[in-house]
Amino acid sequence: RKNIEYISTGVRSLDDLLEGGIEVGSITEFIGEFGAGKTQICHQLSVMVQLPKDKGGLNARALYVDTEGTFRPERIVQIARARGLDPEKTLENIIYARAYNSDHQMLLIDEAKKYIEKYNIRLIIVDSLINHFRAEYPGRENLASRQQKLNKHISQLHRLASLYNLAVVVTNQVMASPDIFFGNPLKPAGGNIMAHGCTYRIWLRKAKEGKRIARIIDSPKHAEKEVAFAITEDGVTD
Ligand code: GTP
Ligand code: MG
Repeated sequence: RKNIEYISTGVRSLDDLLEGGIEVGSITEFIGEFGAGKTQICHQLSVMVQLPKDKGGLNARALYVDTEGTFRPERIVQIARARGLDPEKTLENIIYARAYNSDHQMLLIDEAKKYIEKYNIRLIIVDSLINHFRAEYPGRENLASRQQKLNKHISQLHRLASLYNLAVVVTNQVMASPDIFFGNPLKPAGGNIMAHGCTYRIWLRKAKEGKRIARIIDSPKHAEKEVAFAITEDGVTD
């Protein structure tokens, strides 16, 4: 098979689960309840992509599209220090954009074309992909238009991923499923459009003693397994 490039997550167990790390040319989705660690992983990846290739990075910059206002520069500083990087330079290499609504979010991704090559962007993060769409199109009566728009947005991201050979990482929430008394009471938001739109889906959950568990769902390529990781002062760790 082709020589696929990966961005290391900086966590051995997660790289193992992903069989190399975050794949370039694809969309990787992190799913989980609040506090599961989605945003922390996004922070860490926007640092990891900057590392040289022999350290698991791509020697490149990240575009960070923040839809919830949860990006924390201080957290980047901590993660950069823990990896022996210059915190100021590391922050400068993260191109930050706050998306205020779904139209704005799609506009930002559209406009990104102008900056990707100029700034050597090899990772686009959208945290979270879906919250504006859910808020702006509530209820059954808006479901069809919401899904259509979401589909367009995911297509935009796929196009950038393959055209510019970069990785896309998005986050998604879980919501209570109607079959609350049977099986898993939680399911990812975004229905089939998200399920089919994202290449790889990793479900995160909180476990005992502050630990986190990650699992790949519905992947034809990956082995069914779960791995543990932690979130510490240094970032996301084994
Ligand atoms: P939502 O966006 O609310 O859906 O959650 P999320 O999945 O994005 O969670 P997030 O990545 O924000 O994880 C938050 C958790 O990370 C906190 O509850 C802490 O347990 C942990 N965390 C965040 N910052 C630090 C830190 O500086 N030190 C340590 N030890 N843990 C941290
Ligand atoms: Mg978050």
